[in-house]
Amino acid sequence: MTEQSPVTIQTAKPVPTLPDAQMVTGVKHYTDRLFSFRVTRPASLRFRSGEFVMIGLMGDPDPKTGKQKPLLRAYSIASPSWDEELEFYSIKVQDGPLTSRLQHIQPGDEVILRPKPVGTLVHDALLPGKRIWFFATGTGFAPFASLLREPQTYEDYDEIIITHTCREVGELTYGRDLIEALKSDELLNEVIGDGFWEKIKYYPTTTREKSPKMGRITDLMRSGEAFADLGVPPLNADTDRVMICGNLAFNLELKDMLEEYGLVEGANSKPQHYVVEKAFLD
Ligand SMILES: Cc1cc2nc3c(=O)[nH]c(=O)nc-3n(C[C@H](O)[C@H](O)[C@H](O)COP(=O)(O)OP(=O)(O)OC[C@H]3O[C@@H](n4cnc5c(N)ncnc54)[C@H](O)[C@@H]3O)c2cc1C
Ligand SMILES: NC(=O)c1ccc[n+]([C@@H]2O[C@H](COP(=O)([O-])OP(=O)(O)OC[C@H]3O[C@@H](n4cnc5c(N)ncnc54)[C@H](OP(=O)(O)O)[C@@H]3O)[C@@H](O)[C@H]2O)c1
Repeated sequence: MTEQSPVTIQTAKPVPTLPDAQMVTGVKHYTDRLFSFRVTRPASLRFRSGEFVMIGLMGDPDPKTGKQKPLLRAYSIASPSWDEELEFYSIKVQDGPLTSRLQHIQPGDEVILRPKPVGTLVHDALLPGKRIWFFATGTGFAPFASLLREPQTYEDYDEIIITHTCREVGELTYGRDLIEALKSDELLNEVIGDGFWEKIKYYPTTTREKSPKMGRITDLMRSGEAFADLGVPPLNADTDRVMICGNLAFNLELKDMLEEYGLVEGANSKPQHYVVEKAFLD
C-alpha cells in the first residue's frame, strides 16, 4: 500500500457546490458603484481577449417548488486570454437582481461561470490598420482591460488610443491604475518588448465632476479638441480601427460619427473598420 499524506486544511480542495462553479480569488472595491474581482479559470476555457461570458450566482429558491435556478448576466472578461485567472469589472446596482448580491462576494466564495465566450470586440473582426481606438463609457472599459494586456494589440497597431468617459473621477480609477501598471509589468515588457506601453494614449474624461478633461468624448471629437489633445488627425478608414463599448445612446451616437468619417462596421464573419458592443442592456 502506498503511503498517503493526511488531508489537512491546506491540502484539501474545496468541493464545488454550484454547476460551473469557479472560486473567487480576489475582490477590490473602487466606489460605491464599482468593483472588480478575480476567479479561478476553468482548465478548458479558451477565449479571445475582448469576449464576454455569462456569470452569476444561484437565485433564491422558488417559493412554490423550493428549486433554485442560476441567475446569470453577461460580463466582459477583463483579463487577457493568456492569464491563469479571470478578472471582471462590475457595476453595483443596489436593486439589481445579480449585483445587489454579487457586490458582497469574498475570496473563497463561488460564482457560476458558463464557459462559452462570445463577442464582437475581437481583433479578428477588424481589418489591419495603423491606429486602434478603444472608446469606453463606465464599465465598458472591461473588454479593453483585456485587450490592453493582449500582446496582439501591440503587434497589430503602432498606436493605441483609449478614451474613457465617466460621470465622476473615482469611476476612472480601475482603468487608470491598470494602464499605469502596464509600465512596470515585467512579463508584458519582456513578451511584447520593453516600453510597449508607450504606444498607448490614454484619454480619460468626466462629465459631472471636475477633472483635468471634462466633457463627453463625442462632443470633444466634434469640436476637434480630442484630436488636438491627442496629436492625431480625425479618424480615417485607411488608418484607423475602432472598438466601442458603452451605453446604448453613446454607442449609437459614436457609430453615426464613425460612419460620417467613412468607417464601416465589421463582424467576426466580415472584418471591417469598427465593432460595437453594449456595456449593458437598457
Ligand atoms: C455584452 C454585455 C457585456 C456586459 N459586461 C459587463 C461588465 O463587464 N461589467 C458589468 O458590470 N456589467 C456588464 N454587463 C451588464 C450585466 O450583464 C448586468 O446588467 C449587470 O451586472 C447588472 O446586473 P443586475 O442583475 O444587478 O441588474 P440588471 O437587471 O441586469 O440591470 C438593472 C439596471 O442597471 C443598469 N446597469 C446594468 N449594468 C450596468 C453597467 N454595467 N453599468 C451601468 N449601469 C448598468 C441598467 O440601467 C439596467 O437596466 C454587460 C452586458 C452585456 C449585454
Ligand atoms: N454614475 C453615477 O454616479 C450614478 C449614480 C447613481 C445611479 N446611476 C445610474 O446608473 C446608470 C448608469 O450610469 P453610469 O454613469 O454608469 O453610465 P452612463 O449613464 O452610461 O454614463 C457614463 C458616461 O457616459 C456618458 N454618456 C452618456 N451618454 C452619452 C452619449 N450619448 N455620448 C457620449 N457620452 C455619453 C455620460 O455622460 P453624461 O454625464 O453627460 O450623461 C457619462 O459620463 C444610469 O441609469 C444612472 O442613472 C449612476
